[in-house]
Amino acid sequence: MTSEVIHKIKSLSRSFRPDLREFFAQDVNRGQRLSVSACGLLFDYSKHWVTDPVVASLTDALREAGWDAAVKRLTSGEAVNVTENRAALHMALRAQPEDHTRVSADAITQAAAERARCVAFAEAVRSGARVGASGRAFTDVVNIGIGGSDLGPLMVAEALSPWVDGPKAHFISNLDGAHAADVMKQLSPETTLVLVASKSFGTQETLHNASKLKVWIADALGEAAVAHHFAALSSRPDRALDFGIPEASVFDFADWVGGRFSVWSSIGLVLMIALGPPVFERLLAGAREMDHHFLEAPLAENIPVLMGLLGVWYRCGFGCQSHAILPYAQRLAYFPAYLQQLEMESNGKRVSLDGSPVTTPTAPVIWGAVGTNGQHAFHQLLHQGTVIVPADFIVTANPVDTDLATHRMLNDHALAQAEVLAFGQTEAESVAVYGESASHLASHRACPGNRPSSLWLLPELNPEALGALMAAYEHKVFVQSVCWGINAFDQWGVELGKSMAAQLASGDESVGSSSTQAARQWLKKHQN
Ligand code: F6P
Repeated sequence: MTSEVIHKIKSLSRSFRPDLREFFAQDVNRGQRLSVSACGLLFDYSKHWVTDPVVASLTDALREAGWDAAVKRLTSGEAVNVTENRAALHMALRAQPEDHTRVSADAITQAAAERARCVAFAEAVRSGARVGASGRAFTDVVNIGIGGSDLGPLMVAEALSPWVDGPKAHFISNLDGAHAADVMKQLSPETTLVLVASKSFGTQETLHNASKLKVWIADALGEAAVAHHFAALSSRPDRALDFGIPEASVFDFADWVGGRFSVWSSIGLVLMIALGPPVFERLLAGAREMDHHFLEAPLAENIPVLMGLLGVWYRCGFGCQSHAILPYAQRLAYFPAYLQQLEMESNGKRVSLDGSPVTTPTAPVIWGAVGTNGQHAFHQLLHQGTVIVPADFIVTANPVDTDLATHRMLNDHALAQAEVLAFGQTEAESVAVYGESASHLASHRACPGNRPSSLWLLPELNPEALGALMAAYEHKVFVQSVCWGINAFDQWGVELGKSMAAQLASGDESVGSSSTQAARQWLKKHQN
């Protein structure tokens, strides 16, 4: 079933001729008018291929597609994850008791209780009340997890690194032995706390790495030390206990916490330890404020709704295959990767909620890198390539702990990139700039412009602004899943690869194609 939004997009886009130069010429206030402020952030969508009638049509279509009922199902705790019969109540993880009219009260209570246990543990580690087997305080905390049990905490720890005042956070995710080895080189067993982060407590990479560090701790400090140096964050506390982690160090979270939506839950323990619970609470507060905006703002002034509709507009109206995330903040280096899982694992789907094949393109490829580095890597394609790649620029007004003059230079680049993507430079303008003698280069130099982008403006990269930004993208994903009529909260596509890897690990030489079998022989022959 293709929602009304897709039908509307297909009919509107057929005759729509986007022209950003013309749009801005027609309305000198477009930049201000097509911007929305919320949670102290500003979202400028003026450099997108939209007009007021287009925005009105798309928001009307979303409403006609049953938007209000869809939001109600999400917030009330219905099993919106229809294939796993689970709710998706990540908003409850950052809600306060007074939010019970918006989000399931039971979920809010459960989340608060789980968080309280984590906070107490984090405070004990930070204060030295909880120490290692040899009585020394923990100076380092290692989060072993992958996917949503890694990407959120990793990204937040880097983004908020100026606020780290506790044990240093390290992250091991990859099965590649180099990952654990390189991290362990930096650590001493006596002063290292290991967090095994795994919702299922069944992910091979995580359990393999956790077992390695378990041996590392036991070899250095004795078997009994494991109980002092390990904690687990999981929806399967039974499995964590079987691994040898004592109950008091196992931090549960509900099965309605999706992996890619879990940083706000016990999975955020590494952040509570490294940053301190108050800073973690500020992150939650920022996300909560965006939740309120998402649940209350009129659709045409609702940032996540606009983000979601714009993405579907390009994907289904103009066949755009990818979307670039361009944070002009070095400490948001992991933000594109975090959004890759959030968006591509949520909406990279080929069947509708009822299991029938979709009749529309779904999630685009999400990619990106920090500016200004991207300008020296892939912006050439963004400006003069033959594909249109809508982009999100993320800019902060103030540096956190560096000089403002440099920060202003950084922001000039961000705004310049968005400006020239939108308005380009014609061949004639190029000749006017570089002179007739260079006219033979005019076609090479010309930039077509008319390339759309969003501009996020944050006051600074602080906990509240980051929380609000993250929540906005979570809600964007939900908006798009409603437009596409798909389940944003399961991920069956990753199971087949896991079972194939298990078959190959069985040693059965007949497994796989001739290519795989030949590769296995080659690797075996070349292994030392
Ligand atoms: O990639 C599949 C996936 O299940 C993700 O959804 C999840 O975040 C990741 O693997 C890790 O899962 P777990 O937290 O259960 O170890």
